[in-house]
Amino acid sequence: MEGAVSAPGLIELQGVGKSFRDGRLRILHDISFSVALGEFICLVGPSGCGKTTLLRMISGLITPDEGAVLVKGQPPRPSAEMAMVFQSARLLPWRTVAGNIEFVLTLKGLPRSDAAMRARALLGTVGLRDFAEAYPHELSGGMQQRVGLARALAVEPEVLLMDEPFAALDAMTRETLRGEVLRLWARRRMAVVFVTHDIDEAILLSQRIVLLGPRPGRIDSIVTVDLPEPRWQHDPRGLAEFARLRRELWDRINAMSREGAVLEELARAFPDTEALPSGR
Ligand SMILES: Nc1ncnc2c1ncn2[C@@H]1O[C@H](COP(=O)(O)OP(=O)(O)O)[C@@H](O)[C@H]1O
Ligand SMILES: [Mg+2]
Repeated sequence: MEGAVSAPGLIELQGVGKSFRDGRLRILHDISFSVALGEFICLVGPSGCGKTTLLRMISGLITPDEGAVLVKGQPPRPSAEMAMVFQSARLLPWRTVAGNIEFVLTLKGLPRSDAAMRARALLGTVGLRDFAEAYPHELSGGMQQRVGLARALAVEPEVLLMDEPFAALDAMTRETLRGEVLRLWARRRMAVVFVTHDIDEAILLSQRIVLLGPRPGRIDSIVTVDLPEPRWQHDPRGLAEFARLRRELWDRINAMSREGAVLEELARAFPDTEALPSGR
């Protein structure tokens, strides 16, 4: 059973709940799962169900109202052990590509000359060695995301949190970057929590998919993805198991949206009934 774990994961969520607006807006309810070092999990759920809020709690930027988030057995603090990649790279526009990465390396305490060398090596791993001296505005969106990824990896995180990092990119760039993320993950042992709306992407990338339901976000199901590794070499999209997983997830999502439509109607009919949306 998820949550009741004997060997604790690197990341543990135990009955996590979160509300905003002084408790009037309930976002997440009873979220329990764990992520082991070296595991890649995807969080999938409708927009507004609390995925970003969940990542922010794992990173220690905000705290849960109920339950506990633990990273290595401790409440998380924003630290160099964790890195986050967002939908846009958020690079410093006045620094070069290499300068953006050197910046986090020097924050980490690396001497300038080492930082410069290390930044170039990292740019090599994301295929941007030739763009070290370019400025962010000279790069395409996909290239900027690569820099963001290199910057995240610069701190050698044990936990990599990715919040829809490819959502704004075209299909071909996404495809390339997915392969790169998988290769980097295979090379460095880290726990990855990756948020995506894209079911196929979740199956392509992860070992487990945590499917969240809407309002308040709760775990609908956790689906284990058992496909041949490494996936950048063995594209699983032609496999029967891939199709089965896809079907399973879409069936769950369709069931949730039917349920959601009924709940919405009930909520409109009984606007004072606060308990309704959390009922299953
Ligand atoms: N700091 C905040 N204050 C108030 N409401 C918030 C805050 N952060 C998020 N929310 C609300 O919480 C809900 C979930 O947000 P979010 O975690 O961003 O969802 P997702 O990433 O799944 O789309 C949304 O309704 C959003 O408006
Ligand atoms: Mg979000």
